[in-house]
Amino acid sequence: MKNKASLLGNKQKFLILGCGFSGSFFAKTIRNFGCTALTSSRSEKKDPNSFVFNSENNMVPNEKIFDGVTHILSCIPPDKTGYDPVLKTLQNKLKSLSLEWIGYLSTTGVYGNTEGDWVSEIDQPNPSQKRSQHRLNCEKQWIESGLPVQIFRLPGIYGPGRSTFEAIRNQKIRIITKKDQVFSRIHVADITHAIIYILQNKDCLKFHQIINIADDEPCSQLEVIQYCYDLLNLKMPEPILFENAKKELSPIAQSFWMENRRVSNKLLCEKLGYKLTYKSYKVGLKNCFLNS
Ligand SMILES: NC(=O)c1ccc[n+]([C@@H]2O[C@H](COP(=O)([O-])OP(=O)(O)OC[C@H]3O[C@@H](n4cnc5c(N)ncnc54)[C@H](OP(=O)(O)O)[C@@H]3O)[C@@H](O)[C@H]2O)c1
Repeated sequence: MKNKASLLGNKQKFLILGCGFSGSFFAKTIRNFGCTALTSSRSEKKDPNSFVFNSENNMVPNEKIFDGVTHILSCIPPDKTGYDPVLKTLQNKLKSLSLEWIGYLSTTGVYGNTEGDWVSEIDQPNPSQKRSQHRLNCEKQWIESGLPVQIFRLPGIYGPGRSTFEAIRNQKIRIITKKDQVFSRIHVADITHAIIYILQNKDCLKFHQIINIADDEPCSQLEVIQYCYDLLNLKMPEPILFENAKKELSPIAQSFWMENRRVSNKLLCEKLGYKLTYKSYKVGLKNCFLNS
C-alpha cells in the first residue's frame, strides 16, 4: 500500500453499512489511515461510532450521520425478496450526497457452477441458486442506480475468529470429500487491503466496475481441514464421502457443494498490481492459528 497519507486521510468520511466480519475489519483499518469511519448494525451498540440501520423495520440513520460522507462500503446481503436493503431504503439519500465512491461486497456465487473451471469478471454470470440470482439482481440495481459504485465479488471469507479452527474447536466440523471439488477463498484482511489499494489508484474505479478478490489457490476443503489438524497437532478423523454425508446437510450447506469453480484474481493481482497479503489458505490459516 502507498504512503498512508497519500490519498486517504482525515478528509474522507466512510460509512460502513453492515459492520459484520468484513465491515469491522475494514472500519478498523481505514481509521488507521486517519479517515472517519461510522458503522451500522441492526441493533444499538455502545460504540459511539456505531449507528442503527435496519431495512427490515425501516430504521434509517438520522441526517447527521450523512454529513460530509465521501465514501460508502456496503456489506449487507440481499433481503428476502432479492432487493438490496441499502438501495431500497436509502437510494434517494445517497443520490443527494457528493459521494466519491461506493463499494459493494458481492459474491462469486453469481458465476454459478463451472465444474471446476476458472471464472473471471468477463465471464457471463450464470447463478443457479436463488440467493445468487438475488445477488446478481442487487449488483444490477447498484449499477443502474448511477451511483459511483464498484462491486467486489468474494468467495468464502475467513480470518481470525471465523475459520476452520473455530469449526474444529466447536465440534462443528464436517469432514467431507467430493471428487474434483474445489472452493475459492479470501482472507478478510485481503478484502480490506485490496479495496484500499484500489482507492489509492483512482483509475481502477474508472475502468473496472467489477473486481474479484480471491486468493491464488482454490483447493479442496479436505486439504484445508487437514492443514488445520496438522497445525493443531491433532489427528484428522476419516472423511465422509459427499454422497453419504449429503442427507445430513442443511439445504444451504448442500447447495455449496453443488457448485465447483476456481475464481481468478488476475484482474486484481496481475492487471491492477495488488499484492495479496495471504496468497494461499496456508499463510492465511497460519495467521488465524497465531491470532485465535
Ligand atoms: N461470509 C462469506 O463467506 C461470504 C462470501 C462471499 C460474499 N459474502 C457477502 O459479503 C458481505 C460481507 O460478508 P460478511 O460475512 O462480512 O457479512 P456479515 O458478517 O454477515 O455482516 C453482514 C452485515 O449486514 C447487516 N445486515 C444484514 N441484513 C441487514 C438489513 N436488512 N439491514 C441492515 N443491515 C443488515 C448485519 O447487521 P448486524 O451487524 O446487526 O447483524 C451485518 O452487520 C455480505 O453481503 C455477504 O453476504 C460473504
